[in-house]
Amino acid sequence: MIDLSSDTSTRPSQAMREFMAAAPVGDEQLREDPTVNELQDYTAELTGKEAGLFVPSGTMCNAIAYAVHARPGEAVILDRTAHPNIAEGGGPAVLAGLLLRTVDGTRGVYDRDQAARVVHAGNTHASRTALISVENTANMGGGMIWPLETLAGLRDLANEHGMKMHMDGARLMNAVVGSGNSAATFGSYVDTVWIDLSKGLGAPVGAVLTGSREFIEAGRLWKHRLGGAMRQAGIIAAAGLYAFRNNVDRLAEDHANARLIADRVVQTPGLELIRSPVETNIVIFSVAGTGLTAREYADRLLKEHDVRISPYYDVSVVRAVTHLDASRGDCETAAEAIAAVAENALNAA
Ligand SMILES: Cc1ncc(COP(=O)(O)O)c(C=O)c1O
Repeated sequence: MIDLSSDTSTRPSQAMREFMAAAPVGDEQLREDPTVNELQDYTAELTGKEAGLFVPSGTMCNAIAYAVHARPGEAVILDRTAHPNIAEGGGPAVLAGLLLRTVDGTRGVYDRDQAARVVHAGNTHASRTALISVENTANMGGGMIWPLETLAGLRDLANEHGMKMHMDGARLMNAVVGSGNSAATFGSYVDTVWIDLSKGLGAPVGAVLTGSREFIEAGRLWKHRLGGAMRQAGIIAAAGLYAFRNNVDRLAEDHANARLIADRVVQTPGLELIRSPVETNIVIFSVAGTGLTAREYADRLLKEHDVRISPYYDVSVVRAVTHLDASRGDCETAAEAIAAVAENALNAA
């Protein structure tokens, strides 16, 4: 099967597994795991921050950051389609007692003026807005990269109102490779930023949250509280180190493969690329013109061509994500299959 349902479907390569097996380990909870410590330091340096914290998932990074940056009853500004609003089990409300003040950005990206409208200083009636949260790349925006000037505008707003700023970097390295801006450049606009190891970077598990030393100390308490403190975790942290050394530059191939699929979508009657242009590794398109629902279309693609993509947030929208386990040839095959399902559906109509 060619699995383009998500870049989380990547599996650790043999070389990554060997590197993991050889990693020196210690008790991570006691800060004695040398591989975890190296990964944390590496990621902190990469993002231009003082310190890093290795945790099991990106969701936990967002949970920790929100809990440290804001007090119960306070509010967070984020795009309506951002992961904490749609896919974290209500974590911001349940774990940190926060309100989400969502804004409707363009492809997951919103600007200073939009955010300014929902900032409250806080009084007996309105809750204080404590945090601005951005997602780079914006997943549901079709892998959109945040422009630096937009981040700068939000940073100014945050400074004017004493708010913190957080970046969900589930796919930060895609943004880096796609834009040519360094992780530290993106990181310079925000107080905290994290990178997922288990998506396009190809590691099986983990994410690293970075920020000031003081923030990371507070975050460590939350990590423990949430049950995220581990023991000989170097064995999985090693996969992250391997990924940073070997799997970053090649993300450009994933981006080229995503554009190849998008080009085929654009040429195919019945299909419509609804997040355009494709900037990184995510292709989101509508199948409404084929007369099929997203689920029917994805099922046919899988059954007839052994290509998996995901029905997405709407009855007629699907998402294909390229990654290191899908070669150029796989993506060419998938692109033809994507077109064939649409053409057959139209011919049968
Ligand atoms: C933008 C974004 N943020 C956060 C997450 C959560 O990451 P994890 O699956 O590592 O918890 C995801 C996962 O799909 C994501 O796409």
